[in-house]
Amino acid sequence: MSHSRIANTFDTWATAGKGEGMEKGHGDVVFQVIPQLGIRPGDQILDLGCGIGWATRALAKVAAGAGAVGVDISPEMIAKAEALHSYTIRARYEVMPFEALDLKDNHFSHVFSMEALYYAPDIDQSLAEVLRVLKPGGRADIIIDFYSDNESTQGWSDTIDAPMTWMSEAEWITKFENSGFEDVGTTRVVDSRGPGEEVDFTPGNVYPDWASRVRFHEAGSLWIHAKKPG
Ligand SMILES: C[S@@+](CC[C@H](N)C(=O)[O-])C[C@H]1O[C@@H](n2cnc3c(N)ncnc32)[C@H](O)[C@@H]1O
Repeated sequence: MSHSRIANTFDTWATAGKGEGMEKGHGDVVFQVIPQLGIRPGDQILDLGCGIGWATRALAKVAAGAGAVGVDISPEMIAKAEALHSYTIRARYEVMPFEALDLKDNHFSHVFSMEALYYAPDIDQSLAEVLRVLKPGGRADIIIDFYSDNESTQGWSDTIDAPMTWMSEAEWITKFENSGFEDVGTTRVVDSRGPGEEVDFTPGNVYPDWASRVRFHEAGSLWIHAKKPG
């Protein structure tokens, strides 16, 4: 079963401290995007694939009375999210697959996700669920690094034991449009810290050489933004 394979992989990541590593790695891009989401007082935000919940908490803190729910298939990620939780923040975390969200229809003003949707074994069903739980006029803001216009990411699926779908920017746009979203667009977000320093770089399975690391950085994260009609 794909979901148990994903959960096993990310449980292992959580135990190894990679949840905190992702906060460092993804934080710059996420903190560039969050102020552009138009989160207002009282808004309810869903964070798909929340990992240890750092972005869930950041989203809930944007506006007075806003609240956020983080969902993830990995029980160890969710356990860490709960351990890191602050009771001054309106956030909670649940073990749940994207494809079957145990959440109310038409409830969320925003669905956010960082580096998670391409792991879904059924992306169409996941997008149908996102559409169902969004309020009419609500926004989906999905960020991914693993997409085929960023060629340096091609080898990632050989290094991660989980299903991964490598699509182009154009294919992602079509998928969102075919799922019933409107105003579908994309923005590339480049990490403002740069690619790092060549002297600190060690070649590995993910980036075989410094040039591929630089190309990865220059392509940027793909931010897909879309709206539920209504
Ligand atoms: C690369 S991590 C990103 C975590 C977090 N967004 C961050 O940036 O730190 C992807 C997360 O998505 C979760 N995930 C992947 N596929 C999922 C699915 N179909 N349903 C629920 N969670 C899933 C994984 O368990 C993992 O914690």
